[in-house]
Amino acid sequence: MTPLAQMAVEVLTTADARAKTALSRRYAAAWQAARAEGALPEIGTADPPDRPARPARPELKHPRDVPRRKPGTPEGRIALLHAVAHIELNAVDLHWDVIARFAHVPMPPGFFDDWVRAADEESKHWGLMAECLEAAGSHYGALAAHAGMWRAAEETAGDLLARLAVVPMVLEARGLDVTPGMIEIFRKAGADDAVAALETIYAEEVSHVAYGSKWFHFLCGRHDLDPKDVFHDLVRRYFHGPLKPPFNEEKRAEAGLPPDFYWPLSETG
Ligand SMILES: [Fe+2]
Ligand SMILES: [Fe+2]
Repeated sequence: MTPLAQMAVEVLTTADARAKTALSRRYAAAWQAARAEGALPEIGTADPPDRPARPARPELKHPRDVPRRKPGTPEGRIALLHAVAHIELNAVDLHWDVIARFAHVPMPPGFFDDWVRAADEESKHWGLMAECLEAAGSHYGALAAHAGMWRAAEETAGDLLARLAVVPMVLEARGLDVTPGMIEIFRKAGADDAVAALETIYAEEVSHVAYGSKWFHFLCGRHDLDPKDVFHDLVRRYFHGPLKPPFNEEKRAEAGLPPDFYWPLSETG
């Protein structure tokens, strides 16, 4: 079997979204099949690209230049699905990037199991959003999307602890805060397929945040660091601006994020 870090680089260097997510799911299945048989496939080391390959479309624009549409309209709902699809594709790369970029950090096999599983789920999430877009007469790539989504990855490329703090424990946790409102928008519009897809995403994202918190705490323990202090320090250093309430305190708790981690970083905290 190809070493896991090498698989990760292959996903990262695949540009087409459908091909990228299909390869991601295939490699995740191969890893999981080997693990189910009790094997521990080689992790290896890799030299991941600074930025993952992406399709020619969507056109990437500064967030300020991506047109905003009212969520109460069909166009607004398509724009919302498109934005989520873009986030999911970025998330596929973010998960494989952790595997490739930090392959030299000795971690227990369960760390790789978690990241492979999350990468597989992100790939599924992109597919769900792509299907919803197509059912609504659009497709991924039809609209402009936010540039700069890779910024957090670039800034934390040298520090696994910082990557865990900023990506799963801040960015993915934010998804837990905003997804229920999104589900409501589609429920009101009677868009059952989008409601079901977003509910799947919402349920699975809890575990992605939990993986972040679990391995963040693990690494803090390894280095005899206080997790809360280190979290505050790293988020202030690598995440620009305050965290925005309201927070989904219940789901954050389920994911292993206690209030004293995030409230002190909010604009009102
Ligand atoms: Fe996702
Ligand atoms: Fe996720």
